Amino acid sequence: MKDFRPGLLIAPHRQLRAGAGSPDECPLRRRRHRLPAGEGDEDQKMNRIAQQQKLQNDQSRGRWELYAPHRGRVTRLLIDAAPPHGRLCVLGAGNSNDLDLPALLRAYAEVHLVDWDATALQSGLESQGCGDTGRVRLYGNVDLTFIADRLGLGAPERPLSDAELDICATTMATRPPLDVPSPFDTVASVCLLTQLMQCVGLSLGERHPRFVEMIMRLRAQHLALLLGLVRPGGTAMLVLDFVSSKTCPELHQVPEASLFDKAVELISRRNFFTGVNPFIIRQLFVSDPTLAPLVDSVQMTVPWLWDFGPRLYLVSAIVIRRRPAAP
Ligand SMILES: C[S@@+](CC[C@H](N)C(=O)[O-])C[C@H]1O[C@@H](n2cnc3c(N)ncnc32)[C@H](O)[C@@H]1O
Repeated sequence: MKDFRPGLLIAPHRQLRAGAGSPDECPLRRRRHRLPAGEGDEDQKMNRIAQQQKLQNDQSRGRWELYAPHRGRVTRLLIDAAPPHGRLCVLGAGNSNDLDLPALLRAYAEVHLVDWDATALQSGLESQGCGDTGRVRLYGNVDLTFIADRLGLGAPERPLSDAELDICATTMATRPPLDVPSPFDTVASVCLLTQLMQCVGLSLGERHPRFVEMIMRLRAQHLALLLGLVRPGGTAMLVLDFVSSKTCPELHQVPEASLFDKAVELISRRNFFTGVNPFIIRQLFVSDPTLAPLVDSVQMTVPWLWDFGPRLYLVSAIVIRRRPAAP
């Protein structure tokens, strides 16, 4: 019998066979959308990558019902991590279609939502009837790549120069602190990492010789950011959409009990988004010299399906307990 069931956490020792999980040569998610003609002046001035992210949020805003099972999973994990009177911070909250805000407000004293798209944050808050509570704080117009201004100047047909990419690398490594009242008891990144990576893809193109390098730098920055916002003894949660029905059409037919095996099979066949192999990311929290000293334990949930509308995503969460402060 398998040592996992849906909803239970997979023990950290459970490994894929050697060789699986190279971050290279995997399809990045989501086809590029053409921007509609006749954007307003404000949108014309907006960084074109921000404009792209905003367009995706505009398109997915009405999918509240569709997201219900995914929202249930994400919200349950966040509630399970809540200490009494705790403070939660969510990175990539967007429309908050994947967050049951009233339920989170019963579990947490404060909820802090961060995203690039300020409109999505505000509309998500209002549509869940939480606009009046002073216990939710929104942080819009926050670029969590920290290099989007520069990335927005490039395009696959005229990519940034090596010197500009070197500056991006330095900026990512030395990013300023995020202007939020950290540390928090719980910090979650919700299906954000793939979107951050999409920002690089939109600028460089996936065939650029430094694409994978920039993706890896961005991932390192994001994992460090996530852990750095959590108080000692608190919980970080990285919710990862790592493959879609676009490259795995049979996802629609996979029974829930078989999703873990399917994930292992897909990753072994290198069918996952570049840089988002959850098994590799879980291992980084155990072995990376900058992350591991901060970590008490790491677990990965069994995968679940997120019905995004145009396609399904296979999603898993990495749950990291930060090491308590020394007595
Ligand atoms: C897939 S959505 C997450 C789902 C979202 N919580 C919801 O329910 O709508 C990813 C989010 O990442 C945000 N995002 C993309 N690039 C970003 C960046 N560079 N900085 C901050 N947020 C970004 C998008 O605006 C979007 O809200």
